[in-house]
Amino acid sequence: MARPKIALIGAGQIGGTLAHLAALKELGDVVLFDISEGTPQGKALDIAESGPSEGFDATMKGTNDYADIAGADVCIVTAGVPRKPGMSRDDLLGINLKVMKSVGEGIKQYAPDAFVICITNPLDAMVWALQKFSGLPAEKVCGMAGVLDSARFRHFLATEFNVSMKDVTAFVLGGHGDTMVPLARYSTVAGIPLPDLVEMGWTTQEKLDAIIQRTRDGGAEIVGLLKTGSAFYAPATSAIEMAEAYLKDQKRVLPCAAYVKGALGLDGMYVGVPTVIGAGGIERVVDIKMNKDEQAMFDKSVDAVNGLVEACKGIDSSLA
Ligand code: APR
Repeated sequence: MARPKIALIGAGQIGGTLAHLAALKELGDVVLFDISEGTPQGKALDIAESGPSEGFDATMKGTNDYADIAGADVCIVTAGVPRKPGMSRDDLLGINLKVMKSVGEGIKQYAPDAFVICITNPLDAMVWALQKFSGLPAEKVCGMAGVLDSARFRHFLATEFNVSMKDVTAFVLGGHGDTMVPLARYSTVAGIPLPDLVEMGWTTQEKLDAIIQRTRDGGAEIVGLLKTGSAFYAPATSAIEMAEAYLKDQKRVLPCAAYVKGALGLDGMYVGVPTVIGAGGIERVVDIKMNKDEQAMFDKSVDAVNGLVEACKGIDSSLA
């Protein structure tokens, strides 16, 4: 059987890391696409030259021609600009919306059967626009945010409790921005929910609140440290986890920006929700029950995402 084909649209910091991870995990043959001449070709060759030492079998191709993504099984989109210190993800909207238009058209023409994972920010609005521009079925177009936000939450919790992060599960809902909703009640250490751990004296409510805020600000913390760009190792790892779930039909339960119609009281929009990812793409949205406070936070996040979607419609009338 032929190896799966993985197209990476954008060969910058995240794109290059995605290519390296896909090769190391032998997920398939990789095509790196970028408008910058030489960048995808250089990264593809560099990674290919690590193959003999690492011992992976996967081809790496760098290109500036969309025709080379033809027949891709998975497309991961990072094309666009990242934020700089002082910028919010929302500040990227105007520039990255234009990028989504060209990327959507490229995917529509050459890879209409792919499972598409968008990483470009502001995530929830960009994945919505990418689905519209590409015309692919909504269950085949999703955004990577929840896996990353949950991973950040899990990392901070594991450090606070001094336990293995393998035993920490965490849940983050809503838009990938300041209004994201880390859900303490559904986050656990080996099945013990965080509120119980507070009662057991493992941590205090104040410390937990600080961790939740640090999770919300997780992207900005990295931008502040790097100064010249945004996070790329953890975002790439998170998207690879989603791609692997699709390619291997793992039925993983992962939070991601998915099209939600009916579940969680929503009537057709992209936002971060728990999903099941398998060979069908986003096979299910998990319709969890929220309490009053959680619902209020989620509603606020939904409003913020809707505001960005409206702004996109204002910029590009074909989306209205
Ligand atoms: N088509 C294809 N590639 C493009 C286009 C386009 N129209 N416009 C820009 N690019 C490429 C750039 O040439 C660059 O190589 O996208 C790449 C982006 O890479 P980086 O600037 O290194 O950004 P990165 O850190 O990878 O983040 C990409 O993901 O997390 C989000 O906020 C982040 O929106 C940003 C995206």
